[in-house]
Amino acid sequence: MAKPRVLVTRRWPVAVEAQLQDQYDVVLNTHDKPLTPSEFRAALTVYDAVLPTVTDLINADAMDIPKAQTKILANYGVGYSHIDAAAAKDLNIMVTNTPDVLSECTADLAMTLMLMVARRAGDGERELRDGKWTGWRPTHLIGTKVSGKTLGIIGYGRIGQEVARRAHHGFGMKIIVQSRSAVNPDILAQCGATQVDTIEDLLPLCDFVSLHCPGGADNRHLINAARLNLMKPDAFLINTARGEVINEHDLARALWFDTIGGAALDVFDGEPNISPDLLGCDNLVMLPHLGSATRTTREAMGFRVVENLADFFGGRAPRDRVI
Ligand code: DGY
Repeated sequence: MAKPRVLVTRRWPVAVEAQLQDQYDVVLNTHDKPLTPSEFRAALTVYDAVLPTVTDLINADAMDIPKAQTKILANYGVGYSHIDAAAAKDLNIMVTNTPDVLSECTADLAMTLMLMVARRAGDGERELRDGKWTGWRPTHLIGTKVSGKTLGIIGYGRIGQEVARRAHHGFGMKIIVQSRSAVNPDILAQCGATQVDTIEDLLPLCDFVSLHCPGGADNRHLINAARLNLMKPDAFLINTARGEVINEHDLARALWFDTIGGAALDVFDGEPNISPDLLGCDNLVMLPHLGSATRTTREAMGFRVVENLADFFGGRAPRDRVI
């Protein structure tokens, strides 16, 4: 029997690409260049499976074909707000993602950002590399203490819980949680966390606020001027979730006018383009979407896709089906 035809839309870790090549009739994107909407439309009429990732905007336009050959979009990544759910359903395409395997590394990066912005690590590194460091002095690059402070976590799924574990058990932080549904009291108890009903309840209480909710239309601009105004004037906002969750213009204004202490972002609305508003803010740390970027995690994400595909083509229900 012919092997299923599979398209991988970006370069993946070598070990995962090799395994895919063993099992399927695979086309790899050796140039690592994102596909255009018309290339997507063509791919969906040719391949049995397409393996996209967060950089692939698979919206209604990219799926505007009468009938698809593709039966599964096995996404590399936990977030799938780049895939239009209604269009995928209309074409009868299943979508899977890669949860769990990236939670620890993404949480590590949220802690990295929190420490960087509070302790002015970006400022310090730039000063040193620019040859401007004149030596230790009691008033130099004074930051904010992280240990023992209050951390608000918006969205208490797997990544949010990993952040809470690090912050509470490692840094003695008090944890306050806001989530769409009631969190199991045993899970809250693991980090001595308290759940509040609304984001409005959470923001005024926190020294740090870390976002761990999904992206997509429902959460677009969840953090806007009105909510930024509720933060303490010296509090920090951390985002390792999705860029669209923050209204970046409103955030830039809050940073320009120092109505919050600072922000640290790993994700951006319309990335890789960065809003000039943000580039002008110096109380802001920015990283290029590195949340899951460790060798262990990126390989684990790939192998999780391989498992989902094996289940799908083996006639079993993939465990990570999201659409
Ligand atoms: C995801 O998986 O959604 C991340 O943003 C990329 O690791």
